[in-house]
Amino acid sequence: MLVLGIESSCDETGIALVRADGANTSAVPVLLSHALHSQIEMHQAYGGVVPELASRDHIRRVLPLTQQVLDEAGQTLADVDVVAYTRGPGLAGALLVGAGVACALGAALGKPVLGVHHLEGHLLSPFLSADPPEFPFVALLVSGGHTQLMRVDGVGRYEILGETIDDAAGEAFDKSAKLMGLGYPGGPALSRLAEQGDPAAFKLPRPLLHSGNLDFSFAGLKTAVMTQAKKLGDDLEPRKADLAASTQAAIVEVLLKKSITALQRTGLRRLVVAGGVGANKALRSQLNAVCAKAGIRVHYPELHLCTDNGAMIAMAGAMRLQSGLQQATRAYAFDVKPRWPLGSL
Ligand code: KG4
Ligand code: ZN
Repeated sequence: MLVLGIESSCDETGIALVRADGANTSAVPVLLSHALHSQIEMHQAYGGVVPELASRDHIRRVLPLTQQVLDEAGQTLADVDVVAYTRGPGLAGALLVGAGVACALGAALGKPVLGVHHLEGHLLSPFLSADPPEFPFVALLVSGGHTQLMRVDGVGRYEILGETIDDAAGEAFDKSAKLMGLGYPGGPALSRLAEQGDPAAFKLPRPLLHSGNLDFSFAGLKTAVMTQAKKLGDDLEPRKADLAASTQAAIVEVLLKKSITALQRTGLRRLVVAGGVGANKALRSQLNAVCAKAGIRVHYPELHLCTDNGAMIAMAGAMRLQSGLQQATRAYAFDVKPRWPLGSL
């Protein structure tokens, strides 16, 4: 079964081809090729994603990228068995491009289509790595808009253990970076600057660290960073790396401690980290150190597949089909779900 995956939920157009064995097999699907166009440069002038520009750029990129992945894999459109696309959550206009193209391709080829949950794509993206996880595991899902801890017993078997009550960890990175003048996207910029700073330089809050539950809250941290930046005034510039390092340390400590608590409470010995913030070096090295000591296996997506991409959408589509949970359909009337809680799957 050859699955074409199309991701267009935000500011990256991602296309991929995944080969999977038929239904109900335990063989992990294999990535044949993938291609990505990032709109970062285009949105940089505006300090953030401009939804209308995002949609228009997806339209320009989606077919050339599709041709590129087919050529790289030595396949043609006629070889595609299922077209999987991101149905949500994300920007409505951007999602509509991927959904529209997927359903048009499906209709033209007479092949079934499948709408995929973007966060399930992130969640299952470590299965694309050379060291794929095995179920069950605890998942720390840290994307731009979501921060969740989950117990994952299989494809589609997700129990939310805790989640953010306000900002996501990615938002805390992005908003803190913005108010330090580091531009968009803030997370990678802040973490690069943090490498030159002292993580203990400023005392910043660790929200909900001792709350006794597995929920997160990062809105207060962003406010504390703003207060600190204002207090520094003209001294902010020379202390920016220290403030970046202290901000990152606060976010990472909370993510780390809550993940360990989730592992203790579930009794599971395996942790999967997915989503854009999973690319963060400090988070990876601290999680690796703590988990190695505790005999816990940690799995990440390949670094270049942490942020949005088509491979994770093709993979999640293929795994859902294999699991028998869902069937691709020849109903080509589509809708998108800009808001779509993962727990409702
Ligand atoms: O998963 P993702 O690509 O998009 C969503 O589905 O939201 O995540 C993007 C988020 C952004 O907040 C970005 O700043 C953050 O991931 N991010 C990072 C790093 N790379 C991406 N945050 C911290 N350190 C990084 N290295
Ligand atoms: Zn994402």
